[in-house]
Amino acid sequence: MSILAKTPPMGWNTWNTFGWKINEELVKKAADAFVESGLKDAGYEYIVIDDCWSLKERDEEGRLVCDPEKFPGGMKQLADYVHSKGLKFGMYSCAGTHTCAGHPGSFEHEFEDAKTFAEWGVDYLKYDYCYKPDHIPGEILYKRMGTALRNCGRDILFSACNWGNDEVYQWIRETGAHMFRSTGDIQDNWESIKNIVLSQIGKESHSGTYCYNDMDMLVVGMYGKGDNNAVALGGCSDIEYRSHFSLWALMNSPLMIGCDIRKMSKETVEILTNKDIIALNQDEEARGPYCIRQWNNPEKVMAFVKPLSNGDYAIGMFNFSETASEMSLQFWDIGLSAAAGKGLSIYDCWSHEEEGTFKERYVCTLEPHGCRVFRGKVIDF
Ligand code: DGJ
Repeated sequence: MSILAKTPPMGWNTWNTFGWKINEELVKKAADAFVESGLKDAGYEYIVIDDCWSLKERDEEGRLVCDPEKFPGGMKQLADYVHSKGLKFGMYSCAGTHTCAGHPGSFEHEFEDAKTFAEWGVDYLKYDYCYKPDHIPGEILYKRMGTALRNCGRDILFSACNWGNDEVYQWIRETGAHMFRSTGDIQDNWESIKNIVLSQIGKESHSGTYCYNDMDMLVVGMYGKGDNNAVALGGCSDIEYRSHFSLWALMNSPLMIGCDIRKMSKETVEILTNKDIIALNQDEEARGPYCIRQWNNPEKVMAFVKPLSNGDYAIGMFNFSETASEMSLQFWDIGLSAAAGKGLSIYDCWSHEEEGTFKERYVCTLEPHGCRVFRGKVIDF
């Protein structure tokens, strides 16, 4: 067995845009687009099929059966196709008796289902939390599937999805999970993005090497469109999508794309393939960031700062308010002392330009819902 998820997993998942309307052709076209659009080169790796891929009943031997109308060639053949593109293949099941959409869940079938997934060539399993029997703690159910996956004979990344219930931070690492959903489902609007971020402040350090806080699939590039009406609600501006992507990157969340990757706008591709931002997320030390609040607007204007493995700082400054707002980042708060002659040389990860050298503080004005994201290098004055 290899060690998986050395850095936050990156990929694409069918749910946000397609919901139950998934099929083999769509997944193949998505795999093609994944490569052609540059997502693969930018580091994205997993193509994941979410809920609604199976028949409503298991077969006579108790095995899960993929829906032959949606996936006529079967999952093994689809996995082979995804692998032939140099990508990895992900699937979905649930810790309860049924998935959220009412398909069979893996409760009390954990070991046989892990074996089936291994036979099909699955590399990633998202594991949901609907229809969970009351008498068994969620922790046990995630331990069961974690153990099943670790003993199925194939490396399968385990993506737990219990929406932050039962103090998941306290026990999820022990289950073998490589990522864990910490909130309810995201929606494609700024309010939802903001609420997810604010709910995670104070929990940042739980997201680290081999087990990351999954803040849900990205909505970047959805612009309010898609067949999943529960997610495609409103849409965001590119300014908001840039902040969303930066926040997920800085908070060490997996970067799982949720838009229709066959039809991405130029701006969407630019956001999702921004190598400077992705590098902050994929830093091998995977330290969680800390939050620094603007003293005169602490609930709405804040920075997230993440120490990087080479001694640099990843610094993101965010404005959650409806008006343009100033933020003054005091270097004192990140451990730099002007008295010791230390300052920062700052590189802008969105304009891809050097911003200059700064002593004591960096001050800027942030547009509503906007951000500035930097890589700061410690310098001597
Ligand atoms: C709930 C999860 O949070 C979603 O991401 C998605 O997997 C749905 N279930 C599928 O039913």
